[in-house]
Amino acid sequence: MAEMVRAENVHKQFGHSQVLKGINLAVNTGEVQCLIGASGSGKSTFLRCINHLEEVTHGHIWVAGQLIGYQVKGNKLHRLRSRAAAHQRRDIGMVFQHFNLFPHMTAAENITMAPIVTKGVSKTIAADQSMRLLDKVGLRQFADAYPAQLSGGQAQRVAIARALAMDPKLMLFDEPTSALDPELVGEVLEVIKDLAAGGMTMVIVTHELSFARDVADSIAFMDNGVILEQGTPNQITSNPQEERTRNFLRRVLTEESRADSEKQHERAS
Ligand SMILES: Nc1ncnc2c1ncn2[C@@H]1O[C@H](COP(=O)(O)OP(=O)(O)O)[C@@H](O)[C@H]1O
Ligand SMILES: [Mg+2]
Repeated sequence: MAEMVRAENVHKQFGHSQVLKGINLAVNTGEVQCLIGASGSGKSTFLRCINHLEEVTHGHIWVAGQLIGYQVKGNKLHRLRSRAAAHQRRDIGMVFQHFNLFPHMTAAENITMAPIVTKGVSKTIAADQSMRLLDKVGLRQFADAYPAQLSGGQAQRVAIARALAMDPKLMLFDEPTSALDPELVGEVLEVIKDLAAGGMTMVIVTHELSFARDVADSIAFMDNGVILEQGTPNQITSNPQEERTRNFLRRVLTEESRADSEKQHERAS
């Protein structure tokens, strides 16, 4: 199976603070890699390095065989200019916690903009594609709605459709449901599960453990800038080897059950 993502000894430093301290990770084409770990452990920074929103300070990342941020000429590495870096980024879709839709554009316009502007796709073709994508995320009837008219779950589904419009080889999700009200989480996770079933390669940062268990081929636990432990969902959630992984899981599960009982409480009252 071909590798879609390969990270080797990735370091990232902000000023004096070492945020990533040697990340090694390989994700095969068609696989779903979930990243879990406490806030501040470097999950977002690592995702941002994969699509070159951040430049690594040491180490290398390849996506679909291309070295991110550099061009290899002979045996020399040349830093890519911003235009070439943007070109690489086109193959990588990213979905953020806070959707980041353009507020002054309709759902359909949000989806068609990048293909029209960066790929020169005609307006008619882009519009057809946007309807297909809105269909895929269950929002065909919301094509003309503005982000402010959408629920958080709907806005996030539009954001996913927007990323898909660039026909990415890889999708990155950074806590796609953590800004949502609990009752809207499911509809977004369903869309992501559909993508997984369709064979999309994805790296997903999430705190939704039962979702990660369902959808992931592999789960990596990040701790203090490294991947402390990685394995199948079963290995990581049922038989973690590291004390820090066990503590993290215990904490997340306690929070989940607290949220659940609060929900039941609300329903009962
Ligand atoms: N642009 C930045 N400048 C300085 N520090 C940053 C920057 N981005 C992230 N950090 C720091 O890097 C650490 C890891 O952050 P982040 O990758 O967001 O972790 P996570 O997503 O796991 O919560 C944090 O301590 C954060 O403050
Ligand atoms: Mg984060």
